Amino acid sequence: MIEIDLDPSTKDCLPSNFMHGYSSASYQIEGGFKQDGRGLSVWDDVLRDAPLGNGDVACDSYNLWKDDVRLLQQYGANTYRFSISWSRIIPLGGRNDPINPKGLAYYSNLIDALLNAGITPFITLFHWDTPLALEERYGGFNATGHQKEELMQDWERYAALVFDTFGDHVKHWITHNEPQSYAILNARVLKKDNFDVEVDRWVLGNNLILTHARAVALYRREFQQRQRGIIGITLDIEWVEPLFETPEANTAAEESVDILAGWQSSRTDLGKHNETIKKFANGNLPDFTAEEWKLIKGSYDFFGVNHYSTKWATGVVRQGLTSDERYHGDFEHVTQDQQGKAIGRRGHNGHPYDVPWGFRKLLNDIRRRWMGPRSVPIYITENGFAGDHEGDRTLEEIVNDEDRQEYFRGYLEAMAKAVKEDGIDVAGYFGWSLLDNLEWSMGYAPRFGVTHVDRENGCKRTPKDSTVVIKSIFHHLVASS
Ligand code: NOJ
Repeated sequence: MIEIDLDPSTKDCLPSNFMHGYSSASYQIEGGFKQDGRGLSVWDDVLRDAPLGNGDVACDSYNLWKDDVRLLQQYGANTYRFSISWSRIIPLGGRNDPINPKGLAYYSNLIDALLNAGITPFITLFHWDTPLALEERYGGFNATGHQKEELMQDWERYAALVFDTFGDHVKHWITHNEPQSYAILNARVLKKDNFDVEVDRWVLGNNLILTHARAVALYRREFQQRQRGIIGITLDIEWVEPLFETPEANTAAEESVDILAGWQSSRTDLGKHNETIKKFANGNLPDFTAEEWKLIKGSYDFFGVNHYSTKWATGVVRQGLTSDERYHGDFEHVTQDQQGKAIGRRGHNGHPYDVPWGFRKLLNDIRRRWMGPRSVPIYITENGFAGDHEGDRTLEEIVNDEDRQEYFRGYLEAMAKAVKEDGIDVAGYFGWSLLDNLEWSMGYAPRFGVTHVDRENGCKRTPKDSTVVIKSIFHHLVASS
């Protein structure tokens, strides 16, 4: 272990069973897009000729997964979060469509290897890669009318197959990853011409919440008692701080966090839509039926959070926005102070800013805002820093990732203080990401990985120095048993 400059009061402040590791997602790392009978997902279609690249090969984890397990072990991780590609196990996606045994075998082997290495698998059911066939059949998660029930049943069949096949070994499930982002970034929005159905983000968002709740209900009804796992959802929540001491800035900051994340959580604790979102949607957010609300209410055993950064609300309301722009709120947000100086350090393409105290504030705010009467543990399912484009830097320079090391040091210390000093129940933490991978339509330039991947060279993996730093930080934070 190396010596890291951390507040000595944080020594051993996390319990010995604290889960810590790294995160990834199927389309961003697997490649093998046509291997062994995998069906296409919407991304295979949307990024087919994308100038910045697609996931045909990605990090080739479909073939190199043993290397990934070895790396996790070397990094001292005791857990790994990854997602299942729906179209790898049911190529056409639907409830009557054939299952692909080779797809199931891929995940079984990975799960077994992780468990043998002492690494707990933490699985996301849906990290944005809808089977293309379902997108074409009824608009995937955009389905409306009687097709909405088809979506629900196809989704339940997929979820049941996953629980049934892997649930004896897997005890941690996430239904959806960042439904808020998916509603913005989904394939139709990126490439409208490919599909004939218009996206209504409020409908799409509601479908995501309802599929989440249906998977949770299914798990609780048929699997949980026997398999003894837990299930939840992962939301992306940035912290928003008022830039000025004005009522407008305070309200904007308060409401922004609701808009960024609250709509998706849809007060699952209370079983009603969040008031800010209702106001903001201006009558466009369909309500759920009483029966649907019953399913949604309390539909999580833990609260998953992806957190990267903080921004500032000025309190100025932006006028004349298109509905797309309004979707993220109509408040002005800045990432600079009044002198135009960036607040926090900047990563690739302006995101994320390095503001560790925003993370601590958010963790406190989650308890105030969302926990309500039901207090459940929080898992940080993603947190990380994208370095700049590699440019002509040598591998040695890239591996010496000081910016990323500083980011993780600050955020992990802030989390530790939230646990120790503020009494927040954080049960696990996942750095994003295990590997430099495909950042969706932004291609491979943003590099979030703690492992460098040389895609010109058989996707050769090289650990960056932050892996050593993070391992040492957890050695300091986690009490030994
Ligand atoms: C959130 C998403 O879950 C993940 O897919 C993405 O790569 C990271 N954040 C970084 O932007």
